[in-house]
Amino acid sequence: MPTPTDLAADIVRLKKERNAVLLAHYYVDGEVQDVADFVGDSLQLSQAAQKTQADVIVFAGVHFMAETAKILNPSRKVVLPDLDAGCSLAEGCPGDKFAAFTARHPDHYVLSYINCSAEVKALSDCIVTSSNAEKIVRSVPEGRPIIFAPDKNLGAYLARKTGRDMLMWRGSCIVHETFSERKIIALQTRHPDAELIAHPECEPAILAHARFIGSTSALLKYTQTAAARRFIVATETGILHQMKKSSPDKEFIAAPPDANCACNDCPFMKKNSLEAVHRALETLEPELTLDEGLRVKALRPIERMLELSAS
Ligand code: 13P
Ligand code: SF4
Repeated sequence: MPTPTDLAADIVRLKKERNAVLLAHYYVDGEVQDVADFVGDSLQLSQAAQKTQADVIVFAGVHFMAETAKILNPSRKVVLPDLDAGCSLAEGCPGDKFAAFTARHPDHYVLSYINCSAEVKALSDCIVTSSNAEKIVRSVPEGRPIIFAPDKNLGAYLARKTGRDMLMWRGSCIVHETFSERKIIALQTRHPDAELIAHPECEPAILAHARFIGSTSALLKYTQTAAARRFIVATETGILHQMKKSSPDKEFIAAPPDANCACNDCPFMKKNSLEAVHRALETLEPELTLDEGLRVKALRPIERMLELSAS
């Protein structure tokens, strides 16, 4: 039975042999983040996937992320260690139902969170991630009605911040909906110096208590620059790995879920074990493939997002 150290060393060898790049989201296990070529949030990972010259992209993330990489860089082989690594937001917004929804509101500008399928992307005018969503909402001409899908919590947060009226698709993230307001308040009472920081996929009641709200990369940056020494972190627990690494003198407490469970771990992200990543690099399977017609339709709204993020 190989140890994690053996597996990590062999992953480094295989990446070289296969001319593969290993991209990892902040939510995967720390030991996978440590062996990746690039660790980032959804936006940074799509930018990295677009730019890579490697023959193979192994994506330690979830299905919609690997799909976005394939849409942006179709000549590369894209491998997702487990094709069943889905996302409750993407699964809660089926393409056919979303097509019927947008067809009922043909005058609306359709903004979709990157956590959706290629079918939903293809029906959208522009894609957003949690790090560029506010800027992109503000870029939609005043007076033009907006559909926002599929995260009702991120949508409500953006509506509050921008004052824009948005018609929501009412999906949510199973991880960010688990946090308990009552337990967070109890934690803050025990640690009055601790700052609550939260991802905008959290429910409004949690966000109302947060000192800082932002994407995973924005939360990480905040912990590096803020004066506080202790943080309660309301997002998936994987991000704590980079927070602890970059600020070893600070304390990070994972915000508690309502039930006695590990439901603040994303079960889809956690499918990317060191063993699964090793197997994917060894076999170059399972490969993510995509219908070319659908890929082309989904590409334009993603490119629009990347252009708006750069400007
Ligand atoms: P970001 O990577 O934009 O912070 O979003 C988090 C997330 O839920 C990814 O699934
Ligand atoms: Fe989807 Fe939530 Fe998991 Fe992110 S944390 S991949 S939004 S289920």
